[in-house]
Amino acid sequence: MGKKSSKSVRDLLFGDLWEYATAPQSSDFVDIKDSYGHYIGGEFVDIGEETFTTSNPATEEPIAEVALGDEATVDKAVKAARKAYDKTWSKMPGRERAKYIYRIARMIQEKSRNLAVVESIDGGKPIKESRDIDIPLAAAHFFYYAGWADKLDYAFPGASVNSLGVAGQIIPWNFPLLMAAWKIAPALATGNTVVIKPAETTPLTAMMLAEIIDEAGLPPGVVNIVNGMGETGAAIVNHDDVDKVAFTGSTQVGKIIQRAVAGTGKKLTLELGGKGANIIFDDAPIDQAVEGIVNGIFFNQGHVCCAGSRLLVQENIHDEVIEKLKRRMSTLVVGDPLDKNTDIGAINSREQLERITTLVDAGVDEGAEMFQPRCSLPDTGYFFAPTIFTDVTPSHRIAQEEIFGPVLSVLTFRTPDEAVKKANNTPYGLACGVWSDKGSKLFRIAGALESGVIWGNTYNKFDPGSPFGGYKESGFGREGGAHGLLPYLEVR
Ligand code: NAI
Ligand code: MG
Repeated sequence: MGKKSSKSVRDLLFGDLWEYATAPQSSDFVDIKDSYGHYIGGEFVDIGEETFTTSNPATEEPIAEVALGDEATVDKAVKAARKAYDKTWSKMPGRERAKYIYRIARMIQEKSRNLAVVESIDGGKPIKESRDIDIPLAAAHFFYYAGWADKLDYAFPGASVNSLGVAGQIIPWNFPLLMAAWKIAPALATGNTVVIKPAETTPLTAMMLAEIIDEAGLPPGVVNIVNGMGETGAAIVNHDDVDKVAFTGSTQVGKIIQRAVAGTGKKLTLELGGKGANIIFDDAPIDQAVEGIVNGIFFNQGHVCCAGSRLLVQENIHDEVIEKLKRRMSTLVVGDPLDKNTDIGAINSREQLERITTLVDAGVDEGAEMFQPRCSLPDTGYFFAPTIFTDVTPSHRIAQEEIFGPVLSVLTFRTPDEAVKKANNTPYGLACGVWSDKGSKLFRIAGALESGVIWGNTYNKFDPGSPFGGYKESGFGREGGAHGLLPYLEVR
């Protein structure tokens, strides 16, 4: 494990007086296998010849070999899903489907400690986040959609609803189990069957979910998990017998998928990138706002599509906010994801670290002013210090492009109209935050923002009952809430 790095706290605030003891989460009790295949038609399929390695980004050490699914594997999975759809799942009453989904939710809760530890080992996120956010929210999604399974007729009054068939789902690496839950839970509740592909850097909790699904006794083929890389995902998207495609990931791949699906009659939802504006008015509670800024950009190392990665701060409070923010940043603990004190864990992969570094270099080259608190990063593993840029202009790359790392770009505004114009000046439209003491102002600004999710005086709050999704290049379709049923149903 990487060495802990709470030096910034000691140095900046307390000199030599204050020491953080390490608070390691033990991982001896988790049973990670050396290799993982796929889960198809209720069977754990052998790993086969083509494989890839998933590693621990905090140590760079390999964890397990994982099967690389090809077109034939995907075809097998789609056939299993079709059979399960035709023979059992689409015919089963909603109240019966609900029992299985509740069972999955409860088993996630029972195994939550194991899932949290594996999530942190495979993906690099701090244990306090996987333990308190990812895993509980994954269970909550299954609970929530279990509740809908026998009430679909009430979700859309006056209309009749039908399931679609086989859903092909592709998920990213930033919230591996949670994204699996966002995809699988509504699909099952609405009577569809699933072929899902986890991301190649974080397949392990999906395979633990396969074990849960197996133990829960779901009819074989209702959920199929195929491991692999981009081409495996493409094979799912392009399979003729897939009725619905749901994708979360980069805007670039989202566009490829949209082109591939065009004209096929497949239903599509895309949840893509973002460049969320976190707007701080001068009447906001500043200390709370600073906490919201930190949570908005440093949560999950900034690997968050809805991250508040552009700070829009009213000009007259700029200096105060930035001073407080810098002081707060110097208390962030960067390092070992399995340490319970860690605020910022490992960057998910070497490739992602390179992307972040390239964009940060561009920020420096373009003349923005960079600040990083004093902190020592572990010698091995992929780590990046929390970073803010001031003196950023709207045309800078760091103001336009998604960095997907712990890097904040700060811009200023003078009037509410200017705040709205700057916030909307992006190809994306996923999430924004607005901080003000006045409710009427919050609502007026929220109404003018081109953004799927808008938080008022908070940031990065998630609930399965609340719909989530984007506008513009952030994609379309909603996940969560009653809205999240719609992409999996034909409504007449
Ligand atoms: P990506 O979009 O390549 O990967 C996401 C998923 O799509 C993975 O499971 C991958 O195997 C799969 N995939 C890749 N190519 C595919 C294809 N042609 N057809 C079907 N599936 C395919 O994202 P990547 O390369 O990991 O990250 C690049 C950037 O994308 C990040 O820096 C970030 O800006 C953004 N991103 C956004 C996410 C979000 O939550 N909206 C999640 C992950 C990345
Ligand atoms: Mg990994």
